[in-house]
Amino acid sequence: PVMTVLLCLAAYLAGSVLFAIPVSRLWRLPDPRAQGSGNPGATNVYRTGGWLPALATLALDAAKGWLPAWLAYSAGLSVLAQAIIALCAVTGHMIPVFYRFKGGKGVATALGAGLALAPVTTLVMAILWLLVLWRWRISALASVTAILSGPLISAILEPDTLPMFGLLAILVVVRHRNNLIRLAQGRETGL
Ligand code: G3P
Repeated sequence: PVMTVLLCLAAYLAGSVLFAIPVSRLWRLPDPRAQGSGNPGATNVYRTGGWLPALATLALDAAKGWLPAWLAYSAGLSVLAQAIIALCAVTGHMIPVFYRFKGGKGVATALGAGLALAPVTTLVMAILWLLVLWRWRISALASVTAILSGPLISAILEPDTLPMFGLLAILVVVRHRNNLIRLAQGRETGL
């Protein structure tokens, strides 16, 4: 339990680093919180700066989810503890202590944690994300579709991780509520 609490805290702190912000500064791009959708994530960095800084943001935000989850897995913690630690990282990204608790939508961080704990399920979800993005060019639609598929796919392929994907789906969908409203109204701006 001590290990779980410590890793959860570390995961929350790592999750709280919103890499869209330092990456944008490094590339001399505007603050993503003041541009486009206002979301500090890879999609919005793509809008302000294109593929390279967006991929850097995606990779770093994923890494901060992957590392604590991988540490929990390697330390032999229970599946429940691993899931809690993954959720701590995603929660850090959504309500970050370093940015007045105003964070992002958690997709990249969930991707990283998922790759560590349920790689097959997560790869299938990532492919689905790419297909929806390729077809409709709307990142939020791709994210919501992929995260909602998580519980179903994990139930078939990696059933131990179903509770984690269930909770991730709830958190990520709730964070996309404004995107979903815009989608329903046909006003969502894509990539
Ligand atoms: O992962 C975030 C994406 O799903 C939506 O981002 O900037 O279009 O709100 P954005």
